[in-house]
Amino acid sequence: MFWFVLPLLHVVLPLRSAHAYNNGMGKTPPMGWNSWCTDSLCNLLGKDPCTEKEVQTTVVAMVEHGLLELGYDYVALDDCWSTTERDADGHLQADTTKFPNGMKAVADFVHARGMKFGLYTSVGDETCKGKRPGSYAHFADDAKTLTAWGVDMIKMDHCGNKHNVSDQELYGTMSAALNQTDRPVLFSLCSWGLDNVWEWGANIAQMYRIQMDHLPFWKLSGKRSAGAGYGQGTYDIIEWMATLQPSKWTTQYGWMDPDFLMTEYFTMDFIGSRTEYTFWSLWSAPLLISTDLRKLASEDDKMRIITNKEVIAINQDPLGTGGDRIVNNTDGTQVWYKPLANGDVCVVLYNSGTNNEQKRDLLVSVHWSVLPAWAGNVSLSVKVRDLWEGLD
Ligand code: GLA
Repeated sequence: MFWFVLPLLHVVLPLRSAHAYNNGMGKTPPMGWNSWCTDSLCNLLGKDPCTEKEVQTTVVAMVEHGLLELGYDYVALDDCWSTTERDADGHLQADTTKFPNGMKAVADFVHARGMKFGLYTSVGDETCKGKRPGSYAHFADDAKTLTAWGVDMIKMDHCGNKHNVSDQELYGTMSAALNQTDRPVLFSLCSWGLDNVWEWGANIAQMYRIQMDHLPFWKLSGKRSAGAGYGQGTYDIIEWMATLQPSKWTTQYGWMDPDFLMTEYFTMDFIGSRTEYTFWSLWSAPLLISTDLRKLASEDDKMRIITNKEVIAINQDPLGTGGDRIVNNTDGTQVWYKPLANGDVCVVLYNSGTNNEQKRDLLVSVHWSVLPAWAGNVSLSVKVRDLWEGLD
């Protein structure tokens, strides 16, 4: 797969249908780390080990590896931090066997290193794992509790929702409750893509999940669509995003969320991880890496993927649009395309059969005239740069 970028005279900006909810958070796609897939193969191994120590050591590793400097500034805990009961006054509380000093102390530690802190809850009565309390009927109280601890990002999952209320209304209530607090919070809406969330998610949240969980594999046999199956591989998500057409919905302060990056996992080979990172960058998707960053040394190939400044810049591009598939050949080769703020364009040449030995050597090509920004201009001189190889 290659990237190239062409300086062009005219770029036609895509029409936007989403209206972003700008509360000051998430102007560019958030970058950072999340605990969910780090310890237990995204819960496939059933362990629940997140602790204060894990957060601290992860923060230290992120700073040491220069990840914070590159923009990875969120550190977020998923479904693992609270006890199974609310406290006597009905507030959420930390599991003190894992977080002996409470969640505010964890937030303080994260903030002291210049990073932002995220926590998780669910829109229904229970979270997805361990029957922890969800926020249903407690939206305002939970918004106050979490923001009082200094939380900067709240992910709200879809589990435990037995009530006959629409997702738009439920998540909208939490969004409004967060807005009532004095703290700007990045609201990460995780309704698994149900109810065509791409049509309304950006009105109330800064990022919204567009499908079930991403698991650390290339291709899974389950259905590829909203709310279907337990999880999708990287290949499946790429196909699903092609159907959704990211440029139609992606907007600053309202990012489509194809779920976490699985970078460090051994179940993802180098090409798989680089392909994953390529597409998440092309879509302007949140770059939240949910694997053990402490295990990556600076010289690792996988570390090179997540520290490529030019590719990160594609993800953080101020135009804030998502790339679309523009060519889908029957041999599995594809071309994807995204305009950038400075008039350059980003093109991905993708061989979707990269985990199939026979297809590994397929040549992917595209004619200039297929690129929308070409716009019939026949006398254009272009500069092409391969961002992964760093070569003009
Ligand atoms: C659901 C979500 C995941 C994760 C788990 C936690 O499966 O989709 O991202 O948050 O719940 O239990």
